[in-house]
Amino acid sequence: MADRWYSEAVVYCLDIDTYADSDGDGVGDIRGLIGRLDYLARLGVTCLWLHPIHPSPNRDDGYDATDFYNIDPRFGTLGDFAELLHQAQNRGIRIIIDLVVNHTSNEHPWFQSARSSPDSPYRDWYVWADHEPSDRHQGMVFPGEQHETWTYDRTAKAWYYHRFYKFQPDLNFTNPAVREEIKKIVSFWLQLGVSGFRMDAVPFIIELTESGNPNSPKDFEFLTELRQHVQWRRGDAVLLAEANVEPDQLPTFFADSGGSGNRLHMLFDFMLNGRLMLALARQDPEPIIEALRDTPALPEGGQWATFLRNHDEIDLSRLTAEQRNQVYEQFGPDENMRIYDRGIRRRLAPMLGNDRRRIELAYALQFSLRGTPVLRYGEEIGMGEDLSLPGREAIRTPMQWSYQPNAGFSTADPEKLVRPVIDKGEFSYEKVNVTAQRSDQKSLLAWFERMIRTLREAPEVGSGSTTHIDVAMPPGVLAHRADGRTGTMVFVHNLGTTDAEVDLSMLEPEADLPIDVLADRNYGEVGKLDRLKVAGYGYRWIRLRRGQGL
Ligand code: NOJ
Repeated sequence: MADRWYSEAVVYCLDIDTYADSDGDGVGDIRGLIGRLDYLARLGVTCLWLHPIHPSPNRDDGYDATDFYNIDPRFGTLGDFAELLHQAQNRGIRIIIDLVVNHTSNEHPWFQSARSSPDSPYRDWYVWADHEPSDRHQGMVFPGEQHETWTYDRTAKAWYYHRFYKFQPDLNFTNPAVREEIKKIVSFWLQLGVSGFRMDAVPFIIELTESGNPNSPKDFEFLTELRQHVQWRRGDAVLLAEANVEPDQLPTFFADSGGSGNRLHMLFDFMLNGRLMLALARQDPEPIIEALRDTPALPEGGQWATFLRNHDEIDLSRLTAEQRNQVYEQFGPDENMRIYDRGIRRRLAPMLGNDRRRIELAYALQFSLRGTPVLRYGEEIGMGEDLSLPGREAIRTPMQWSYQPNAGFSTADPEKLVRPVIDKGEFSYEKVNVTAQRSDQKSLLAWFERMIRTLREAPEVGSGSTTHIDVAMPPGVLAHRADGRTGTMVFVHNLGTTDAEVDLSMLEPEADLPIDVLADRNYGEVGKLDRLKVAGYGYRWIRLRRGQGL
């Protein structure tokens, strides 16, 4: 195992409220999740990322907290959470939680106090302007659902800033008291036993918002300060951040100009995500090759987190309009599937026409590309979306456990469920559920278990270095390699429909009895590397050479 556990982790993200309901009130809860830890252990995931767990009016799925030191009572108690940490640890599973501190809910007592009087001790915890800011209608993150970034508050008789919805006032990070409070929150959860945080909206946290300036400066020093604090409190804790910015800005989030990784440990690779979707849409690996080539080098200890789907829309904003349209055409042909003029609110299986070969190909590709893979709940069984639900809720439906009513998610009356289960069409829980797949060795779930097990025997992917194998390839085929202390893995993925044969004989001198450790079918012995067959939508993970420790 690597010293840095997160390099070789397999992360699984879930919303407690849609995962498993233990008390029949229609809302998933911590005890329900505890009951599913064995399922998660068998799947092979090593770290859970829990979406917000704090009390919240839930106007943005918990990303609007009213108390950072507590658990949403719908989910259980702090005692239940401590039990979850213990039970997960017993199974070798770590837990990280969402740290959403760019803003609070407008119902948070801090904001209520802040708006009540200019003399409130919390007044300066938020960002205010006395006069209408000229950039009031700029910088919205949710166009269509959000109309401004500054809103007038009658009680406060002032304008407050909110990068997201207007019920999410931004905290003022120029205020040292706010910084101290954030560190206290972090310490609290580390002390309870979490292994780190998924930090929400980092570029906005460090923004020194100036009214009238839509491009306010940023203060990266807070990230250095926070990292130091986290590491003193718990040496192996990790900060995994959401920072969807231009590639040339990414290195500053990992490290200061000295180059040593003294800020965030991990960033989600949004750039790769967009390119992966484009590559899958075009059936052409070129965008992935570009992504591998163009991503900035990381400082020591820095790591990418790869993903195909998360709890938000697929964000295609870093593609050109033409590229975005190509993805829309393939994966979001109806207006109703698109959102915020930049993305798609669908799950992967329906986007790929529920074609099992393509789903395997896409996930084999993601999990073999450099970094730590993040998997969203339900993807392992090929769940679909419900486009009749508003916005991003389409992909936040309850986990489909069984053939039982409500998909085995809850025993409540269906109208009491936090969100309806998918009960129609080819993604209905009667067709797609864990029970059905658990007993079927050919199921997608069984494949995920095998794939994850295989990945865990290939630590080069997480801890080593990944490069494109730059030799002539048939159209649609990508070959890449991962090299590390434990040896070398070679990966061949065919994004197209046509069967292909690839010549990797230049690797011959390095090969040491190469074998397929994962493939879409039995291709027989690897033998010489000059005529490797790979079927349309097929893939081969080949162990080329063993190094130390394997
Ligand atoms: C990013 C989160 O991923 C998203 O779900 C949320 O709405 C915003 N941040 C605001 O917290």
